[in-house]
Amino acid sequence: MIIAVDGPTASGKGTLAKGLAEHFGLPVLDTGLLYRAVGYQTQLNHGDADNAADALAACDFPDSLLDDPALRYETTGGLASRVSIHPAVRQALLQRQVDFANQPGGAVLDGRDIGTVIAPHADAKLFVTASAEERARRRHAEMRGRDVDITYDAVLADVHARDARDTGRTNAPLFRAEDAMLLDNTDMDRDAALAAAIAFVEGKIRRPG
Ligand code: C5P
Repeated sequence: MIIAVDGPTASGKGTLAKGLAEHFGLPVLDTGLLYRAVGYQTQLNHGDADNAADALAACDFPDSLLDDPALRYETTGGLASRVSIHPAVRQALLQRQVDFANQPGGAVLDGRDIGTVIAPHADAKLFVTASAEERARRRHAEMRGRDVDITYDAVLADVHARDARDTGRTNAPLFRAEDAMLLDNTDMDRDAALAAAIAFVEGKIRRPG
């Protein structure tokens, strides 16, 4: 069984994907991490994230980079969002994601284009979202918890900028697949969102299509 989880930045899709993977006993891939690795490697190479050739050269990052805590930094998320615009970068990362999705037994993947490009044949697709203000509020609280000195307004501006880049790009833009369940968790806690997602996937298993 393949479960595709897509959604904008800070929507809680990563947490939801992990919860689904645990519940259904499936491996999970956070595809944003691959783009983060490319963005960070571009910086390590002293390249420019907006330059397609520089970003493409960073696609052969070492696997060990995926464990680097620096990938979680906000600045790395910004770099990821910039390198992900280049079609050559998306192409270079495609097969790895497709192979993960199609492994025997299935998998859960979360990202921006899983249900639309990577696994359009997924058994269950979810589009996870929340209002920009709520996503910024959660991200701001999480950052303040890590002692990052940043205002709510700056986080909200970043959320808007990333949304615009993710939905506005020509290649594999973020949008909800027609057959994806819309899970707006603005007024839901994590447990409620996970319970709703599990119920949806179980329904799909019983009544495929
Ligand atoms: O999900 P996360 O915030 O870690 O992703 C970082 C960036 O990588 C996103 O802003 C998005 O631009 C890009 N991305 C993408 N396609 C994916 C996953 C992430 O373009 N499947």
